[in-house]
Amino acid sequence: MLDIRSSIATPAAKAQPIRRADYRPPDWLVPELALDFELGAGETRVTGSLSAVRSGAHDRPLRLDRDGIVPDSVRIDGVEADWSQLDDAIEVTLPGDAHSIEIAVTLHPDRNTQLMGLYASGGLLCTQCEAQGFRRILPFPDRPDVLTRYRVRMTADSTRYPVLLANGDPVGSGDAGDGRHWAEWDDPFPKPSYLFALVAGDLVANTGSFTTMSGREVQLGIWVRESDLAKTDHALSALKTAMAWDEKVYGREYDLDVFNIVAVDDFNFGAMENKGLNIFNSRYILADPDTATDYDYDAVAAVVAHEYFHNWSGNRVTCRDWFQLSLKEGFTVFRDQQFSADQGSPAVKRIEDVRGLRAAQFPEDAGPLAHPVRPDEYLEISNFYTATIYNKGAEVIRMMHTMLGEAAFRAGSDLYFDRHDGTAATVEDFACAMEDASGADLTQFRLWYSQAGTPRVSAQLSHAPGDGRARIALRQLVPPTPGQPDKAPMLLPLRIKLFGSETGKPLGEERLVLLGDTSADIAFDGVAETPVLSINRGFSAPVILDTNRTAADLAFLSAHDDDPFARYEAMQQLMLDTLVTAVTHGRADHDAVIAAVARTLASPDLDKAFVGEAVLLPSESFIGDQLSVVDPDAVFRAREALRRDLATRLGEQWRDAYDGAAANRFEYTPAAKGLRRLRNVALGYLAASGAPDAADLAFAQFEGADNMTDRHGALATLVNGTSDKRIAALDIFYNRYRDNPLVLDKWFSVQALSARDDAVDQVEELAKHRDFTLANPNRARALVGMFSVNQRAFHHPSGRGYRFVADQLLALDKLNPQTAAKLVPPLGRWKRFDDDRAAMMRGELERIVASAGLSKDMLEQAGKSLD
Ligand code: ARG
Ligand code: ZN
Repeated sequence: MLDIRSSIATPAAKAQPIRRADYRPPDWLVPELALDFELGAGETRVTGSLSAVRSGAHDRPLRLDRDGIVPDSVRIDGVEADWSQLDDAIEVTLPGDAHSIEIAVTLHPDRNTQLMGLYASGGLLCTQCEAQGFRRILPFPDRPDVLTRYRVRMTADSTRYPVLLANGDPVGSGDAGDGRHWAEWDDPFPKPSYLFALVAGDLVANTGSFTTMSGREVQLGIWVRESDLAKTDHALSALKTAMAWDEKVYGREYDLDVFNIVAVDDFNFGAMENKGLNIFNSRYILADPDTATDYDYDAVAAVVAHEYFHNWSGNRVTCRDWFQLSLKEGFTVFRDQQFSADQGSPAVKRIEDVRGLRAAQFPEDAGPLAHPVRPDEYLEISNFYTATIYNKGAEVIRMMHTMLGEAAFRAGSDLYFDRHDGTAATVEDFACAMEDASGADLTQFRLWYSQAGTPRVSAQLSHAPGDGRARIALRQLVPPTPGQPDKAPMLLPLRIKLFGSETGKPLGEERLVLLGDTSADIAFDGVAETPVLSINRGFSAPVILDTNRTAADLAFLSAHDDDPFARYEAMQQLMLDTLVTAVTHGRADHDAVIAAVARTLASPDLDKAFVGEAVLLPSESFIGDQLSVVDPDAVFRAREALRRDLATRLGEQWRDAYDGAAANRFEYTPAAKGLRRLRNVALGYLAASGAPDAADLAFAQFEGADNMTDRHGALATLVNGTSDKRIAALDIFYNRYRDNPLVLDKWFSVQALSARDDAVDQVEELAKHRDFTLANPNRARALVGMFSVNQRAFHHPSGRGYRFVADQLLALDKLNPQTAAKLVPPLGRWKRFDDDRAAMMRGELERIVASAGLSKDMLEQAGKSLD
């Protein structure tokens, strides 16, 4: 093995971390910026005229961040000036306290494969500036605490770029001669550079309007290529619903005359909340029944709402520095989760969110890339757009909501927006507003922002029948994480309720227990019958729970708990316990799981979507997370054995569930979605049972479907199986959707996630397919990203899975470091696997780190993953 220290010495020594403790307010403010763009895909000329105002008494130069651009000229107060050029900035010495600076730059959007700054996507020109893309457009104090009023003028070819959009409201447009035209936009709200945006292209809009609570009319537009126009109704209606919801639930009103959203095909992440001009990955805008699954429909609505909500939580109040990222992201994710819960089934939404947290955030918190919700340092900020900042950040806000209650939380949110409107705030400001509005003391609770690692909670219930007293012995442990060996106990809000094991009835009201010490004893009196413990209901704290509940207790709760989320959790825990026993002992008794699933399937009054979730086995990786050393093959075998047993022993029930949910016409309603969900789950079990007609059923569903949920569900079942219909279905699907990139992504990912023995061979072949390209982030993630979470295939004992991913990441890093670096974490989990696998995984990380010309993004992710 290579010595890592020597191999990373050179580049790592160069890259100095940025530290939160080093924060200093800006030396110079920029109250105004006028931008002039002569747009072209090959060449764009930018002129920025800014006012620079000295802040405080100092004699430091004006520092303008830059990334890969060199000014053509710099003029100070109208006179050509000198500047000094540093690696990542230019510096200008200014004699007075206020000057006007004009900078000219030439850009080449069509060579911008990083998709940061101004770039070309399809025929469009568009921008992405968060976090530090603006410095690829103009040298500028590119930091979120410099708030500037923008005026933007664009000139472009009238045929290629008939539509010109920017932030704020449109203020003028006209002919520019020579087949060119111009448009000017003005944004009255001062904003940080990361919220700047423009779009130029041949676009059409699905338009609408929204009247705000104070009676102002806002013009809405969802801008897409003409051929996609029919797929924008869902996004537009989600936008209107979100605008009304934010008024009702948070009292937040929209503040410009227009709100535009543009969909682009090449995008590094989900979407971006640029003021008045959100730019989206087209996968979170376009939806129609033929091409989008129910999951896609839900995601479109959630992301549209998320970006819209940022208008207040992010834009009106922004972040002082990037260490505060969760201030806007955690809060906004929490807001979009609440919104989605209000549109359908809150329990199913919570189940999905918790499943996502466990799949992405818990492993991050347990691995080499663990970091607090408010990190202390980073090399590359793009690496910190993580599940911890977003999803754990949302859990932290949710806990405040749980502890303070709806009304006090709303008062705190109002106070926060009032106090900090138009400024760049901190996580601490948010906590103070919550405290001041509610009277609560969040001193200890703030540890959630500074300590990384998922707390482990043990809850042991005992009952003395004689005195009618039940006791719960609680303990907590926050595990060490990189750079944080010792942890203080956290404040954990635990919603707890007891149920009588004979009557099945609640024994008293639910209690909210705040565990703040390492251990505590909680007593419940008047407990006449043997109690069963329901704890962390609704996942009130994002912790890993260990209890002394038996399989019988869990089965009981899965049938009797009055909180559907808790019923789901009990079922999951029962399944998990069974599977862990099977992996560690080679066999396990499946009876309790089978009986519980049978009972759930037979409960007529349960929501079908809930049933579909409740009867699903935990994922292979979640099972792996419970083991000290993961054997992916043993996990796969144990899970398959339980699946087969459930499938055969409940054969008739699966058949009934399948037939009972037989699709009618497509409808996007919670009830219809629930039926489709359950039907696809039932189809999976029918296939697992080896039912001779399962492949025919799947193929008939595939061919007869009037919506993508049914078609895709059937395809997934076929792709995981051995029937010769698998190839036929894949071909039909490919030919039907070959011109639709978003659906073709599904064709790649369904194969990347295959449970078949030959998944690695398939994926290696697919990487050579003519439709595979690393230049499009969605496509790269559909194949490489999905494959690396296919636990058994990625961890193929030959190491081929690791090599494949590392090869792809090295190639992708040359084009698009941000997207490449996001795909490193699965390789970084080597400590969790057996020695052979661990050595191969480390070997690939070492190969990555030793590669010439590696990006800072990759260097940080791969380098830290070796520790
Ligand atoms: N702020 C965007 C959102 O709504 C995401 C921006 C991601 N930026 C990045 N560099 N990864 O979540
Ligand atoms: Zn966001």
